[in-house]
Amino acid sequence: MAGLAVALQVQAEACARLGSPMYAELLQRMAGDLGTPGPLERVLAGHEDDPGPSALFLRLLGTVHRLVLERRAGALAAYYPSVGGRWDCDAAWPAFVDLLDVERGEVRRGLERPPQTNEVGRSAALVGALLRLPAAALPVRLIELGASGGLNLRADRFRYTSAEASWGPPDSPVVLDDAWLGAPTPVERSLDVVERIGCDTAPVDPATTEGRTLLTAYVWPDQQSRLHRLRGAFEVAAATPAHVRRERALDLVARLEPQDGACTVLWHSIVWQYLDAAEQAAVRGHVERLAGAASAEAPFVHLALEPTRRTAGGEHEFLVVVEQWPHAPEPAVLGTAAGHGPPVSWEA
Ligand SMILES: C[S@@+](CC[C@H](N)C(=O)[O-])C[C@H]1O[C@@H](n2cnc3c(N)ncnc32)[C@H](O)[C@@H]1O
Repeated sequence: MAGLAVALQVQAEACARLGSPMYAELLQRMAGDLGTPGPLERVLAGHEDDPGPSALFLRLLGTVHRLVLERRAGALAAYYPSVGGRWDCDAAWPAFVDLLDVERGEVRRGLERPPQTNEVGRSAALVGALLRLPAAALPVRLIELGASGGLNLRADRFRYTSAEASWGPPDSPVVLDDAWLGAPTPVERSLDVVERIGCDTAPVDPATTEGRTLLTAYVWPDQQSRLHRLRGAFEVAAATPAHVRRERALDLVARLEPQDGACTVLWHSIVWQYLDAAEQAAVRGHVERLAGAASAEAPFVHLALEPTRRTAGGEHEFLVVVEQWPHAPEPAVLGTAAGHGPPVSWEA
């Protein structure tokens, strides 16, 4: 139980920091309940030693949120802002623990599934970076590892605004406000995305009700702007096809070749940590193979938004890092994002 108490504390602090007072409060309440025999203890039985990075409590909260979205959560729905409710921790708590008992089997199955977040806000890093790359003046082949629902494969169909400038279709149902800070983004440039290909070991189809509900369930219910842009991205996805195959990152990258007359961009966000060391090394080997095959007519770009330390022992930051072949092969930090994307601060 000591491990669970620490995991709850860490998750509550992260939710408070990342703008979900509702989950911060609910997780604190759960921490107070830990060690008391009851629905929470019963639903968590067998998970006492789950490692911190498995995000056990996001699995639990995501599953409960899915039940709310599916109208299977009874009285609890009245407290979830994502379905029009009003959060009130004291009033919600009895309904929350009741649901853990009534739907114990379903919640326990949900604990086996990693959170499935496809964060549209991370497109602010992708598009802001592409606009800075000379090679992306060519038609862009966008290839995404760990694409989830493939929503960010439609990044060029979203609208981005910042204090000085904006970019993207003005009528897009997805508007990322305050997307960019720091060095100005060259918004006079355009992007021509000609291919949208992704892979994921557990892809989600945003064209289905089940897929949309699942992706919505892992957005925190009091984060209206994230929920709003996710719904907008479902609309964009319906109008702009992309192909996300069920396969490992390694299998996709192994088939990839640069192509004359196009800029091949290999992109991933918050995925690297889920690849084991062997797959990381093999993917890296293919990046080097692609680098060797790139030319001025067929450039290859590796672009990533991943939690990274600039120096050994330093803090993790969400760094936007690019390598470009043949012209600028050394990894360069273009900017720093927040966990869910905006604002991205671009370096000079
Ligand atoms: C945190 S999510 C990020 C999703 C998306 N990139 C984003 O930023 O919104 C991580 C994704 O990586 C996928 N994943 C985990 N291991 C993978 C692997 N070996 N190959 C491909 N995808 C993987 C998961 O299924 C999940 O969809």
